[in-house]
Amino acid sequence: METKYLIFYPSDVMKHSFPKHSLTIWLSITGLCLVLFFVFTAEQQLPSLKKVFIKDFYVGVAVNQGQMAGYLPSDVALVKKQFDSVSPENVLKWSRVQPKPHTFNFGPADKYVKFGMKNDMFIIGHNLVWHKQVPDWVFKNDDGKPVSREVLLKRMKYHIDKVVGRYKGKINGWDVVNEALTEQGKLRDTKWLKIIGSDYIEKAFEYAHKADPDAQLYYNDFNLWKPAKREGVIRLVKELQKKGIRIDGIGMQGHWYLHKPSDDQIEASIQAFSKLGVKVMISELDISVLPIPKDHDNPPPSIRHSRDPALNPYANGLPDSVKNALATRYASLFRLFEKHKDAITRVTFWGLNDKETWRNNWPVIGRKDYPLLFNRYNQPKEAFYSVVETSGK
Ligand code: XIL
Repeated sequence: METKYLIFYPSDVMKHSFPKHSLTIWLSITGLCLVLFFVFTAEQQLPSLKKVFIKDFYVGVAVNQGQMAGYLPSDVALVKKQFDSVSPENVLKWSRVQPKPHTFNFGPADKYVKFGMKNDMFIIGHNLVWHKQVPDWVFKNDDGKPVSREVLLKRMKYHIDKVVGRYKGKINGWDVVNEALTEQGKLRDTKWLKIIGSDYIEKAFEYAHKADPDAQLYYNDFNLWKPAKREGVIRLVKELQKKGIRIDGIGMQGHWYLHKPSDDQIEASIQAFSKLGVKVMISELDISVLPIPKDHDNPPPSIRHSRDPALNPYANGLPDSVKNALATRYASLFRLFEKHKDAITRVTFWGLNDKETWRNNWPVIGRKDYPLLFNRYNQPKEAFYSVVETSGK
C-alpha cells in the first residue's frame, strides 16, 4: 500500500530502501520539471519586440513554407510572441503561385494568410511583378517567341486579379513591383520593360488597385540608400502620383552589412522618401557579418559557388567581438528608425533566425552567417537585447 506513494517522497524511498531505479526515475522527473520550469520562465520574461515598439511601427518577419506548414513549431511560437506583421518569404511569388499558365498553387499561400489573420497580424503580399522567380512561359508564346505587349499585359492583369483578388480584404499591403531599378536609378532592363515598355509599372499598380481597392500598394527595392537609386525611386513615385495612380509606400529592403551602408546614407533616403508623402518601410532587414565578396549584388557563378574559407570565417562559431559589433550596429539602426518613427510604418526582418536565413546562401552558397536577432536555436542574441534597449531612448 505504502509503496504506491513512495515515489513522491524521496526520504521515504531512502528509509524503505526502495528499488534504486525508482529513485532514478524520481530524480529524472524532478530534473526535467526544473528544466522545463526555467525554460518556460525565461520564455515568459523575454521582452516582445511587437510590444516594445507598439507605439512606433509594426515589427515584421518573413516566414517560410516549412514554418507555416507546421514543421517548426518552436519557430511559430516565437513568431507569434515577437511580431505583429508577416511577409511571405517565397510562397506568393509568381513561380510558386502560378507555375504553369492558368495552373494555380494557392495551398501554401492560403496557410500563410490564415496564420496572419488568426494572429491578428498586418499581412504583406510579396510580390506581384519582379524579374526573378517568374517562370519563362510568362514571356513566351507557344512557339517560343516573345509575346506581344498586349498579351503580356493581359497575363499580368490576369495574375494580379487572381492573386490579389483571392486575398482581398485579408492581405493588407502588397509589394506590387519589386527591384525595377538599376544602381544608376534607371529602369532595369527586364522582359517586363522590353516587352511592355516603361508603363508596365503603372499598369501593375493600376491592376492591383482595381483588384483590391483597400489594399496598400508599395514599391520595393534594395540599395535604396544609394543616391542615384534613391533619385530613381523619387522620379518613379512622383510619376505615379502625377498620374493619380495609387502608391502608398516604399520598401527599403535592408540586406545590409556590419559597416555598410552608413546610418547617414540610410537616413537621407528615409527623409527623402517621406517628403513624397508615402510611407517608408524597412521591408527585408538582415545584417550579414561575413566578408563582402566582389559583385555581391549580382554575384557571378565563381562567387556564388566559392568555397574560399576566407569568405566563410565563422563556420565554427562567432567571436564575441563580432557578436558585439552586430549588437552595436542593430542598436544604432533602431535608434535611427525610432528617430524617424513618424515616417516609418514597419520594420520587417527577412527571416526569423540564423538557421533559416537566406543569407547562409546569398551572395555565396553554403556559408554560415549570423544576420538576425535569434540564433540557430531560437535563443535571443546580444543584438536582440540591444534593439530592445533602444526603445524609448
Ligand atoms: C529570397 C528568399 O529569401 C530566398 O529563399 C529565395 O531563394 C530567393 O529570394 N529580395 C527580395 C526577396 O525581394 O524576395 C528575396 O527573397 C531576397 C531579396
